[in-house]
Amino acid sequence: YSQDRYIKDQYTFPIGASVNPRLLSTNEAYRNLATSEFNSITAENHMKMMLIHPDSELFDFSKGDELIQFARDNNKRMHGHTLVWHNQVPAWMLAFSGDLQAWENMLKNHIQTVAKHYQGQVSGWDVVNEAFLDDGSLRPSIWSKNIPDYIAKSFQWAHEADPNALLFYNDYGQDGKPHKMEAILNLVKDLQARQIPIHGLGLQMHINISAKNEDIRRVIEQSTATGLAIHFSELDIAVNPKNDSTFVFNEAAKEAQMQKFNLVFNAYRAIPKQQQYGITFWNVGDRDSWLRGYFKRPKEYPLLFDDQYHRKPVYSNLLYP
Ligand code: XIL
Repeated sequence: YSQDRYIKDQYTFPIGASVNPRLLSTNEAYRNLATSEFNSITAENHMKMMLIHPDSELFDFSKGDELIQFARDNNKRMHGHTLVWHNQVPAWMLAFSGDLQAWENMLKNHIQTVAKHYQGQVSGWDVVNEAFLDDGSLRPSIWSKNIPDYIAKSFQWAHEADPNALLFYNDYGQDGKPHKMEAILNLVKDLQARQIPIHGLGLQMHINISAKNEDIRRVIEQSTATGLAIHFSELDIAVNPKNDSTFVFNEAAKEAQMQKFNLVFNAYRAIPKQQQYGITFWNVGDRDSWLRGYFKRPKEYPLLFDDQYHRKPVYSNLLYP
Protein backbone atom coordinates (compact mmCIF):
# COMPACT_ATOMS: atom_id res chain seq x y z
CA TYR A 1 0.00 0.00 0.00
CA SER A 2 1.66 3.15 -1.13
CA GLN A 3 0.32 6.26 -2.68
CA ASP A 4 2.25 9.45 -2.80
CA ARG A 5 -0.24 12.05 -1.64
CA TYR A 6 -2.81 12.02 1.12
CA ILE A 7 -5.70 14.32 1.75
CA LYS A 8 -4.60 15.19 5.28
CA ASP A 9 -1.41 16.77 3.90
CA GLN A 10 -3.25 19.00 1.44
CA TYR A 11 -4.94 21.31 3.89
CA THR A 12 -3.84 23.70 6.61
CA PHE A 13 -6.57 22.38 8.93
CA PRO A 14 -7.09 18.83 10.24
CA ILE A 15 -8.93 16.29 8.09
CA GLY A 16 -10.62 13.72 10.27
CA ALA A 17 -12.72 10.60 10.19
CA SER A 18 -14.95 9.00 12.74
CA VAL A 19 -13.80 5.46 13.32
CA ASN A 20 -14.97 2.18 14.64
CA PRO A 21 -12.43 0.37 16.86
CA ARG A 22 -13.48 -3.07 15.62
CA LEU A 23 -12.77 -2.19 12.00
CA LEU A 24 -9.57 -0.48 13.02
CA SER A 25 -8.26 -3.63 14.66
CA THR A 26 -9.60 -6.23 12.21
CA ASN A 27 -9.56 -4.61 8.78
CA GLU A 28 -6.17 -3.72 7.39
CA ALA A 29 -7.40 -1.62 4.46
CA TYR A 30 -9.55 0.42 6.82
CA ARG A 31 -6.71 0.89 9.26
CA ASN A 32 -4.33 1.92 6.46
CA LEU A 33 -6.70 4.58 5.25
CA ALA A 34 -7.42 5.84 8.75
CA THR A 35 -3.69 6.08 9.33
CA SER A 36 -2.51 7.64 6.09
CA GLU A 37 -5.40 9.79 4.97
CA PHE A 38 -6.56 11.47 8.17
CA ASN A 39 -4.92 13.37 10.99
CA SER A 40 -7.88 13.62 13.31
CA ILE A 41 -10.04 10.88 14.76
CA THR A 42 -13.48 10.89 16.36
CA ALA A 43 -15.05 7.84 18.00
CA GLU A 44 -18.14 7.08 15.94
CA ASN A 45 -19.88 5.59 18.99
CA HIS A 46 -17.59 4.53 21.80
CA MET A 47 -17.45 7.70 23.84
CA LYS A 48 -21.23 8.05 23.93
CA MET A 49 -23.10 7.59 27.20
CA MET A 50 -24.54 4.17 26.37
CA LEU A 51 -21.17 2.63 25.61
CA ILE A 52 -18.92 4.43 28.04
CA HIS A 53 -21.26 4.42 31.06
CA PRO A 54 -23.33 1.24 30.73
CA ASP A 55 -24.31 1.08 34.38
CA SER A 56 -24.55 3.68 37.10
CA GLU A 57 -21.40 2.48 38.82
CA LEU A 58 -19.65 1.27 35.70
CA PHE A 59 -17.58 3.18 33.17
CA ASP A 60 -16.17 1.23 30.24
CA PHE A 61 -13.29 3.16 28.74
CA SER A 62 -11.77 0.16 26.94
CA LYS A 63 -12.73 1.04 23.36
CA GLY A 64 -12.24 4.75 23.79
CA ASP A 65 -8.80 4.04 25.21
CA GLU A 66 -8.01 1.87 22.18
CA LEU A 67 -8.81 4.80 19.94
CA ILE A 68 -6.72 7.14 22.07
CA GLN A 69 -3.83 4.70 21.77
CA PHE A 70 -4.26 4.54 18.00
CA ALA A 71 -4.30 8.33 17.85
CA ARG A 72 -1.20 8.60 19.99
CA ASP A 73 0.73 5.91 18.08
CA ASN A 74 -0.10 7.52 14.77
CA ASN A 75 0.12 11.17 15.61
CA LYS A 76 -3.56 11.99 15.28
CA ARG A 77 -5.62 14.54 17.05
CA MET A 78 -8.54 12.98 18.95
CA HIS A 79 -11.85 14.79 19.10
CA GLY A 80 -14.27 13.79 21.87
CA HIS A 81 -17.83 12.88 20.88
CA THR A 82 -20.09 13.29 22.85
CA LEU A 83 -20.78 14.03 26.52
CA VAL A 84 -24.52 14.76 26.48
CA TRP A 85 -27.04 13.59 23.90
CA HIS A 86 -30.65 12.38 23.91
CA ASN A 87 -29.73 9.29 21.84
CA GLN A 88 -27.64 6.28 22.80
CA VAL A 89 -28.42 6.87 26.44
CA PRO A 90 -28.05 3.78 28.68
CA ALA A 91 -31.24 2.20 30.06
CA TRP A 92 -30.28 3.02 33.64
CA MET A 93 -30.19 6.75 32.83
CA LEU A 94 -33.55 6.57 31.07
CA ALA A 95 -34.95 4.92 34.19
CA PHE A 96 -33.26 7.34 36.59
CA SER A 97 -35.49 9.20 38.99
CA GLY A 98 -34.77 11.88 41.52
CA ASP A 99 -35.03 15.58 42.18
CA LEU A 100 -33.10 18.32 40.40
CA GLN A 101 -30.10 17.87 42.69
CA ALA A 102 -29.96 14.12 42.04
CA TRP A 103 -30.21 14.62 38.27
CA GLU A 104 -27.52 17.27 38.35
CA ASN A 105 -25.21 15.07 40.38
CA MET A 106 -25.76 12.19 37.99
CA LEU A 107 -25.07 14.19 34.82
CA LYS A 108 -22.17 16.09 36.38
CA ASN A 109 -20.58 12.83 37.49
CA HIS A 110 -20.92 11.42 33.98
CA ILE A 111 -19.46 14.47 32.27
CA GLN A 112 -16.63 14.97 34.71
CA THR A 113 -15.60 11.32 34.98
CA VAL A 114 -15.37 11.02 31.19
CA ALA A 115 -13.77 14.41 30.62
CA LYS A 116 -11.19 13.78 33.36
CA HIS A 117 -10.39 10.33 32.03
CA TYR A 118 -9.55 11.82 28.64
CA GLN A 119 -8.05 15.05 29.91
CA GLY A 120 -5.03 16.01 27.85
CA GLN A 121 -5.83 13.29 25.32
CA VAL A 122 -8.69 14.86 23.43
CA SER A 123 -8.34 18.33 21.97
CA GLY A 124 -12.01 19.09 22.27
CA TRP A 125 -15.44 17.76 23.21
CA ASP A 126 -18.86 17.87 21.66
CA VAL A 127 -20.30 18.74 25.05
CA VAL A 128 -23.93 18.85 24.02
CA ASN A 129 -25.22 17.23 20.85
CA GLU A 130 -28.49 18.01 19.01
CA ALA A 131 -30.31 19.89 21.76
CA PHE A 132 -32.71 21.73 19.43
CA LEU A 133 -35.54 20.63 17.20
CA ASP A 134 -35.78 21.92 13.66
CA ASP A 135 -38.25 24.63 14.74
CA GLY A 136 -35.69 25.99 17.18
CA SER A 137 -37.37 24.77 20.35
CA LEU A 138 -35.47 22.87 23.00
CA ARG A 139 -35.66 19.17 22.22
CA PRO A 140 -37.68 17.22 24.78
CA SER A 141 -35.35 14.71 26.45
CA ILE A 142 -34.59 13.39 29.89
CA TRP A 143 -32.03 16.21 30.11
CA SER A 144 -34.27 19.14 29.21
CA LYS A 145 -37.09 17.66 31.27
CA ASN A 146 -35.13 17.10 34.45
CA ILE A 147 -32.42 19.76 34.32
CA PRO A 148 -33.87 22.90 32.72
CA ASP A 149 -30.50 24.67 32.38
CA TYR A 150 -28.60 21.51 31.40
CA ILE A 151 -26.80 22.95 28.39
CA ALA A 152 -25.05 25.73 30.31
CA LYS A 153 -24.37 23.42 33.24
CA SER A 154 -22.87 20.76 31.01
CA PHE A 155 -20.43 23.25 29.51
CA GLN A 156 -19.51 24.51 32.96
CA TRP A 157 -18.95 21.00 34.33
CA ALA A 158 -16.93 19.94 31.29
CA HIS A 159 -14.74 23.01 31.62
CA GLU A 160 -14.07 22.33 35.31
CA ALA A 161 -13.03 18.77 34.49
CA ASP A 162 -10.79 19.59 31.52
CA PRO A 163 -10.00 23.31 31.37
CA ASN A 164 -7.84 22.92 28.25
CA ALA A 165 -10.35 21.12 26.06
CA LEU A 166 -12.18 23.15 23.42
CA LEU A 167 -15.87 22.82 24.12
CA PHE A 168 -18.29 22.50 21.20
CA TYR A 169 -22.00 22.63 20.70
CA ASN A 170 -22.73 20.15 17.88
CA ASP A 171 -25.85 19.81 15.74
CA TYR A 172 -27.15 18.88 12.27
CA GLY A 173 -29.34 20.36 9.57
CA GLN A 174 -28.58 24.02 10.22
CA ASP A 175 -28.55 24.73 6.47
CA GLY A 176 -32.16 23.91 5.76
CA LYS A 177 -33.47 24.98 9.17
CA PRO A 178 -33.17 28.70 9.92
CA HIS A 179 -35.04 28.43 13.24
CA LYS A 180 -32.68 25.79 14.51
CA MET A 181 -29.73 27.92 13.42
CA GLU A 182 -31.21 30.91 15.22
CA ALA A 183 -31.62 28.86 18.40
CA ILE A 184 -27.97 27.83 18.21
CA LEU A 185 -26.81 31.42 17.74
CA ASN A 186 -28.98 32.50 20.67
CA LEU A 187 -27.50 29.76 22.80
CA VAL A 188 -24.00 30.98 21.99
CA LYS A 189 -24.95 34.56 22.91
CA ASP A 190 -26.58 33.43 26.12
CA LEU A 191 -23.59 31.33 27.20
CA GLN A 192 -21.17 34.11 26.33
CA ALA A 193 -23.25 36.69 28.22
CA ARG A 194 -23.20 34.42 31.28
CA GLN A 195 -19.47 33.76 30.85
CA ILE A 196 -20.03 30.05 30.44
CA PRO A 197 -17.17 28.61 28.41
CA ILE A 198 -18.02 27.59 24.84
CA HIS A 199 -15.29 27.51 22.23
CA GLY A 200 -16.69 25.98 19.12
CA LEU A 201 -19.62 25.06 16.94
CA GLY A 202 -19.87 21.65 15.32
CA LEU A 203 -21.83 21.56 12.08
CA GLN A 204 -22.38 17.89 11.44
CA MET A 205 -22.89 18.35 7.69
CA HIS A 206 -24.90 15.22 7.03
CA ILE A 207 -26.09 16.68 3.78
CA ASN A 208 -27.13 15.44 0.37
CA ILE A 209 -26.47 16.56 -3.17
CA SER A 210 -29.59 18.74 -3.18
CA ALA A 211 -28.46 20.86 -0.23
CA LYS A 212 -28.60 24.47 -1.34
CA ASN A 213 -25.25 26.16 -1.78
CA GLU A 214 -26.52 29.48 -0.48
CA ASP A 215 -27.91 27.80 2.65
CA ILE A 216 -24.57 26.17 3.35
CA ARG A 217 -22.71 29.42 2.79
CA ARG A 218 -25.10 31.32 5.03
CA VAL A 219 -24.84 28.99 8.03
CA ILE A 220 -21.08 29.02 7.70
CA GLU A 221 -21.08 32.83 7.69
CA GLN A 222 -23.42 32.94 10.67
CA SER A 223 -21.32 30.41 12.57
CA THR A 224 -18.10 32.21 11.75
CA ALA A 225 -19.54 35.52 12.96
CA THR A 226 -19.71 34.10 16.50
CA GLY A 227 -15.91 34.09 16.55
CA LEU A 228 -15.93 30.47 17.76
CA ALA A 229 -13.94 27.60 16.28
CA ILE A 230 -15.84 25.82 13.52
CA HIS A 231 -15.80 22.05 13.02
CA PHE A 232 -17.52 20.29 10.16
CA SER A 233 -17.86 17.37 12.48
CA GLU A 234 -19.65 14.54 10.62
CA LEU A 235 -19.47 15.24 6.91
CA ASP A 236 -21.10 12.91 4.44
CA ILE A 237 -22.94 13.77 1.22
CA ALA A 238 -25.78 11.43 0.35
CA VAL A 239 -26.45 10.82 -3.33
CA ASN A 240 -29.61 8.73 -2.96
CA PRO A 241 -31.45 10.41 -0.08
CA LYS A 242 -34.80 8.78 -0.89
CA ASN A 243 -33.22 5.32 -0.79
CA ASP A 244 -34.38 4.44 -4.29
CA SER A 245 -33.58 0.75 -4.74
CA THR A 246 -33.02 1.20 -8.48
CA PHE A 247 -30.55 4.01 -7.95
CA VAL A 248 -27.35 3.89 -9.98
CA PHE A 249 -24.39 5.98 -8.91
CA ASN A 250 -23.91 7.34 -12.41
CA GLU A 251 -21.77 10.12 -13.81
CA ALA A 252 -24.36 12.79 -13.08
CA ALA A 253 -24.64 11.77 -9.43
CA LYS A 254 -20.86 11.58 -9.13
CA GLU A 255 -20.51 15.02 -10.62
CA ALA A 256 -23.17 16.46 -8.31
CA GLN A 257 -21.44 14.96 -5.28
CA MET A 258 -18.10 16.30 -6.41
CA GLN A 259 -19.53 19.81 -6.79
CA LYS A 260 -21.03 19.62 -3.32
CA PHE A 261 -17.80 18.41 -1.69
CA ASN A 262 -15.99 21.24 -3.46
CA LEU A 263 -18.49 23.78 -2.22
CA VAL A 264 -18.17 22.51 1.35
CA PHE A 265 -14.37 22.51 1.30
CA ASN A 266 -14.14 25.91 -0.36
CA ALA A 267 -16.60 27.40 2.09
CA TYR A 268 -14.59 25.93 4.95
CA ARG A 269 -11.35 27.35 3.59
CA ALA A 270 -12.90 30.81 3.57
CA ILE A 271 -13.29 30.66 7.36
CA PRO A 272 -10.57 32.65 9.16
CA LYS A 273 -7.62 30.36 9.89
CA GLN A 274 -7.77 30.67 13.66
CA GLN A 275 -11.36 29.39 13.61
CA GLN A 276 -10.61 26.30 11.51
CA TYR A 277 -10.81 23.24 13.74
CA GLY A 278 -11.11 20.98 10.72
CA ILE A 279 -13.36 18.80 8.61
CA THR A 280 -14.27 15.33 9.87
CA PHE A 281 -15.87 12.71 7.64
CA TRP A 282 -18.41 10.39 9.22
CA ASN A 283 -16.37 7.21 8.79
CA VAL A 284 -13.92 6.05 6.12
CA GLY A 285 -15.45 4.06 3.25
CA ASP A 286 -18.94 4.13 1.76
CA ARG A 287 -19.51 0.66 3.17
CA ASP A 288 -18.84 1.93 6.71
CA SER A 289 -21.28 4.81 6.51
CA TRP A 290 -24.12 4.93 9.01
CA LEU A 291 -26.40 5.64 6.02
CA ARG A 292 -25.78 2.04 4.97
CA GLY A 293 -25.86 0.44 8.41
CA TYR A 294 -28.10 2.53 10.65
CA PHE A 295 -30.47 3.79 7.95
CA LYS A 296 -30.27 0.62 5.86
CA ARG A 297 -29.67 2.41 2.59
CA PRO A 298 -27.60 -0.08 0.59
CA LYS A 299 -27.30 2.18 -2.46
CA GLU A 300 -25.66 5.10 -0.78
CA TYR A 301 -22.17 6.39 -1.52
CA PRO A 302 -21.56 9.37 0.76
CA LEU A 303 -17.79 9.29 1.46
CA LEU A 304 -14.39 9.41 -0.29
CA PHE A 305 -13.56 5.70 -0.52
CA ASP A 306 -15.51 3.00 -2.32
CA ASP A 307 -16.50 -0.47 -1.15
CA GLN A 308 -13.02 -1.80 -1.95
CA TYR A 309 -11.50 1.09 -0.01
CA HIS A 310 -10.23 2.65 -3.21
CA ARG A 311 -10.22 6.38 -3.70
CA LYS A 312 -13.31 7.56 -5.54
CA PRO A 313 -12.99 10.21 -8.28
CA VAL A 314 -14.34 12.76 -5.83
CA TYR A 315 -11.27 12.13 -3.70
CA SER A 316 -8.80 13.29 -6.36
CA ASN A 317 -10.71 16.46 -6.71
CA LEU A 318 -10.12 17.32 -3.06
CA LEU A 319 -6.51 16.21 -3.29
CA TYR A 320 -5.65 18.89 -5.81
CA PRO A 321 -7.52 21.87 -4.48
C1 XIL B 1 -24.48 7.50 14.63
C2 XIL B 1 -23.50 6.38 14.32
O1 XIL B 1 -22.87 6.66 13.11
C3 XIL B 1 -24.21 5.07 14.27
O2 XIL B 1 -23.29 4.00 14.16
C4 XIL B 1 -25.07 4.86 15.52
O3 XIL B 1 -25.82 3.69 15.40
C5 XIL B 1 -25.99 6.04 15.73
O4 XIL B 1 -25.23 7.22 15.77
N1 XIL B 1 -25.29 12.52 14.72
C6 XIL B 1 -24.32 12.24 15.64
C7 XIL B 1 -23.65 10.92 15.63
O5 XIL B 1 -23.94 13.12 16.42
O6 XIL B 1 -23.27 10.50 16.91
C8 XIL B 1 -24.50 9.87 14.97
O7 XIL B 1 -23.74 8.67 14.85
C9 XIL B 1 -24.99 10.36 13.63
C10 XIL B 1 -25.83 11.59 13.77
